[in-house]
Amino acid sequence: MKIAVVGSGYVGLVTGACFADMGNDVWCIDIDKKKIDDLKKGIVPIYEPGLDEMVKKNYADGRLRFTTDLKEGISEALFAFIAVGTPPEEDGSADLQHVLKVAGEIGRIMEKYLIVIDKSTVPVGTAEKVRAAVKAELVKRGRTDLEFDIVSNPEFLKEGDAIEDFLRPDRIIIGTDNVRTAELMRELYSAFVRQGDRVIVMDIPSAEMTKYAANAMLATRISFMNELSYLCEKTGADIESVRMGIGSDSRIGRAFLYAGVGYGGSCFPKDVKALIHTSKQLGHGLKILTAVEDVNRWQRERFVEKVVERFGNNVKGMTFAVWGLAFKPNTDDMREAPSVDIIDELRKKGARFRAYDPIAVETARAIIGDEAISYEKKNYDVLEGADALFIVTEWHHFRKPDFDKMKSLLKNPIIFDGRNLYDPASMKENGFEYYCIGRVQRN
Ligand SMILES: NC(=O)c1ccc[n+]([C@@H]2O[C@H](COP(=O)([O-])OP(=O)(O)OC[C@H]3O[C@@H](n4cnc5c(N)ncnc54)[C@H](O)[C@@H]3O)[C@@H](O)[C@H]2O)c1
Repeated sequence: MKIAVVGSGYVGLVTGACFADMGNDVWCIDIDKKKIDDLKKGIVPIYEPGLDEMVKKNYADGRLRFTTDLKEGISEALFAFIAVGTPPEEDGSADLQHVLKVAGEIGRIMEKYLIVIDKSTVPVGTAEKVRAAVKAELVKRGRTDLEFDIVSNPEFLKEGDAIEDFLRPDRIIIGTDNVRTAELMRELYSAFVRQGDRVIVMDIPSAEMTKYAANAMLATRISFMNELSYLCEKTGADIESVRMGIGSDSRIGRAFLYAGVGYGGSCFPKDVKALIHTSKQLGHGLKILTAVEDVNRWQRERFVEKVVERFGNNVKGMTFAVWGLAFKPNTDDMREAPSVDIIDELRKKGARFRAYDPIAVETARAIIGDEAISYEKKNYDVLEGADALFIVTEWHHFRKPDFDKMKSLLKNPIIFDGRNLYDPASMKENGFEYYCIGRVQRN
């Protein structure tokens, strides 16, 4: 099938590569010329496990092509995915300018029937705005004879597991008001759901809302556990035991129940904010999600508070080692990463940092900068002479480190672990002062 994907970021590139991998003809389009030039040279601009190989293979086979020219990209397509960014505005609402710009451009240049698909995460009502933007351009051109349909097909992939999630989705949501379009969309996705039909067809507003509802629910679980972690610290309960105790209940389940420094990334923070914004516009601010956001912010502050409680407010001249900068493992995405707030807050108080992340250093440097921070290539290299270690991202190789080596390198054997990687009792035996989330170091 002939597919165009507009926007070649985390979602667009994975979508394009996975469709091409199933034998479809795919054009990936982006306004970022450098990105497209790099992709043509085989340089994949983001880190996502398996993506590099998939892009190179399908590009070499001619199924996956790249262009900055939307007209070239959509001229033969039956399906045009819009997968551009929808970052948060100041007031928390989703910024739709890129989505609507692409919609208008499609209307200006399309020459045959097209299914225009919103894959970007967009608030309820956006599909109708996209429809209106395409139509307005067709009217201007005097080409109202050209037919098109609009579909909402939100994406649920997780960065770090994006390829796997796309190839083996839990479900595919198709929001459409047209039975024939629904069948074409089913056909398009049939290669990914051979084990059983996981396509759920619904009306367009419900599809748009489903994406926000999913992210809001997952963010709620995280903030719920984070809030309980505070209570655990105060009462002597252990959040890890509580997690196992409730996660084994089939009504609750185990996923997204980890206490930590809070959620980050390009989706949960902005999608929770956007949903709150929508609800406020409709005259009823969502109470649960407002609290979810507050707790998430507080969780980062609590990490800093623990450091200040231990060292005092004057951390001037102190150096902290940081393991992990990305908002989660297996990605170089730094959007809304907790590391940024933690480093910024303590840097304001005069602290210096030496940081390590296996993948995200370049993206981190672009946000955090070079003031009072250096970036090292190996995790042990940041420890020498540091006053304490902060663990902010749970990369696999942090789970079983050489504690003796760590102790010999650190100035003080002190760890602030924002990801609960170690057992507090063993850390005590190992001679570490260990501060984690919702767990106490018992005597
Ligand atoms: N990142 C995720 O894990 C994830 C998961 C599910 C859904 N989403 C949603 O998918 C959307 C895209 O997210 P992302 O993380 O891939 O964003 P991204 O910032 O990585 O990529 C967006 C791309 O769109 C390009 N672009 C912007 N305007 C354009 C235009 N007019 N024409 C062509 N290209 C244009 C940008 O240059 C950029 O390369 C967002 O709405 C996001 O909420 C993201």
